[in-house]
Amino acid sequence: MYPPQHVAIIMDGNGRWAQNRGLARHEGHKEGVKTLKKIVKYAVETDISSLTVYAFSTENWKRPKAEVDFLLALMKKTMRNEVKDLLDNGVRINFIGRKNGLSKNLIKEIEHIEIKSKKNKCLTLNIAFNYGGRAEIVDAAKKIFIESQNKGFNIDELDEDLFSSYLYSSDFQDIELLIRTGGDKRLSNFLLWQSAYAELYFTDKYWPDFDAAELDAALEDFRNRERKFGALNDGDKNA
Ligand code: IPE
Ligand code: IPE
Ligand code: MG
Repeated sequence: MYPPQHVAIIMDGNGRWAQNRGLARHEGHKEGVKTLKKIVKYAVETDISSLTVYAFSTENWKRPKAEVDFLLALMKKTMRNEVKDLLDNGVRINFIGRKNGLSKNLIKEIEHIEIKSKKNKCLTLNIAFNYGGRAEIVDAAKKIFIESQNKGFNIDELDEDLFSSYLYSSDFQDIELLIRTGGDKRLSNFLLWQSAYAELYFTDKYWPDFDAAELDAALEDFRNRERKFGALNDGDKNA
């Protein structure tokens, strides 16, 4: 089967990776950034055209303030430090998530890198930050409601394609392969709409231990899946 064009990753297990080594949880987050850099580089070399990663969920605000502050600062620092490398590698950066709740400085950094990388074509890296799948769907419903009031939008015209265009990223393709590291088998509110028909791949590896060989294993597994989208198998057409 063809390689997946759009891969999503729930980068989980940073905290446990660190704790298993007697380190503070934030050391795991720092290591996780290194893994992401390697995986982005590798994704550029493959046929994957979009990679979407879960970096901070709308639920992660429930963590201790010190960890939340660390994650916000790490994001800002990473965006600033990595911009050159990402641009050199032809990576386009796109954020999905609620900007509401993020500091002005972080939003500035995010918008700067989005604009700078806009024309890049080798890989689109969507970073889900302050992202929640339910929040995204509610935000889309609100936008549609406001437009229906302001523009006399005919609600009967609303179908799945039109609804999709109101999500955080209107040109966002469906997820074909969704990987979660860290051993848990759940979505944790990630891309609920876009993963409707995603193939799911779970690995026990903690995110800092994930590497190109692990990604290859997931891609290989994907190639052996039969994607039916509710239809019958090819061979069953005349059954
Ligand atoms: C994922 O690793 C990173 C974020 C959620 C920001 P965790 O921090 O959830 O690590 P574990 O799951 O506690 O090991
Ligand atoms: C999901 O991981 C969020 C990110 C990886 C950013 P969590 O560690 O927050 O998920 P739960 O709490 O185990 O479901
Ligand atoms: Mg976790």
